[in-house]
Amino acid sequence: MKILAIETSCDETSLALLDAKGGLKNLTFSVEKHLISSQIKLHRPFGGVVPNLAKREHTKNLPLLCGKIFGISNFKFPISNKKTASKFSQIDAIAVTVGPGLEPALWAGITFAKELQRKMNSGPLTSLRANKRQVALFGVNHMEAHLYSFLLQQKTVSSNDKVQISNLKGIFPMIALVVSGGHTILLKMDSLIKWKKLGETRDDAAGEAFDKVARMLKLPYPGGPEIAKLALKGNENAINFPRPMLKIPSEAKGSQNNYEFSFSGLKTSVLYYLRDNPRAKKADVAASFQKAVVDVLSIKTMRSVKEYRAKSVVLCGGVAANKALRANLEQITNNLSVNFFVPPFEYNTDNAAMIGVAAYINYLRKRNYPLQADANLNL
Ligand code: KG4
Ligand code: ZN
Repeated sequence: MKILAIETSCDETSLALLDAKGGLKNLTFSVEKHLISSQIKLHRPFGGVVPNLAKREHTKNLPLLCGKIFGISNFKFPISNKKTASKFSQIDAIAVTVGPGLEPALWAGITFAKELQRKMNSGPLTSLRANKRQVALFGVNHMEAHLYSFLLQQKTVSSNDKVQISNLKGIFPMIALVVSGGHTILLKMDSLIKWKKLGETRDDAAGEAFDKVARMLKLPYPGGPEIAKLALKGNENAINFPRPMLKIPSEAKGSQNNYEFSFSGLKTSVLYYLRDNPRAKKADVAASFQKAVVDVLSIKTMRSVKEYRAKSVVLCGGVAANKALRANLEQITNNLSVNFFVPPFEYNTDNAAMIGVAAYINYLRKRNYPLQADANLNL
């Protein structure tokens, strides 16, 4: 199935053209084209993403990126170039993020996708398509897409026995740590389509904590990569920031509280530390804060691995781009002979390739999301 995937939930406009095949038993994805246009520079002066600015920028960028995907500079229907028309006619489905995300930004992608579907299902393009079949349009849950993004690589990062991701044999039960700018979720997955939420954050998401602490350190938006860069020059043991919710009262053992997260208190301790130590070395603060986050995420993940005898861990979402977190989870899973999956760097933060992957899996399991923006969609 050839899928044109669209992502506009936040501040990246992304389009991907991918080929998905094999069914749930032998998933294979090949990304033929993948473009990301970042709006970071536009939003940076505001210290965060401005929803209506994001929407305007997505609306401007979508036709440009779509043209680029198909190798044309002036993208408009009807498509006169025969070669381009033939490329278009090979598309079986369009996939678009419907949530969670910023509502105006989501609508920009949905509106574009609907319009594109309408144009592709009418006029001369239809006659080029085999059996004149209609192009489908799938709404995609952005968090499911992050979860499935590890399928965009076909081998494990660390594993004792060579597991092929595509046939998914021997990788379940699997613990998934989904860490992004808006979410921090721990899941136990019994299969690719069956999971149970073990816990999530009670307040700030991990990425949000990175962004807020970065702002305290006067680092630009988005803060995660900036903190990670600064942390390389600091001492991670310089300041002993709290590791929130690691100590579990015995009455809570086995309950959901085991796997809940909270990053707001940690953020406040960084604030107080900076207030009380105005001459503190920023790199030490960054490194010590990062270490506290990595510790909490890794310890809770491994606790659940042991409790559920998981065979694999998957790390995904924007914060999965954090090298300290990747390295730490890679090492501890390796020590326990547990498989560790993490998407290649380009698929950690928001991207359309993962939207195409989730669309194909939902198509296989006949699951459909309404084609309307849902800012609060969850896993
Ligand atoms: O998944 P994502 O691109 O967007 C959401 O769905 O939220 O995640 C963005 C988040 C931001 O909070 C950003 O600061 C964080 O991921 N992030 C990082 C790194 N790269 C991105 N956090 C820590 N270290 C990084 N290297
Ligand atoms: Zn995301």
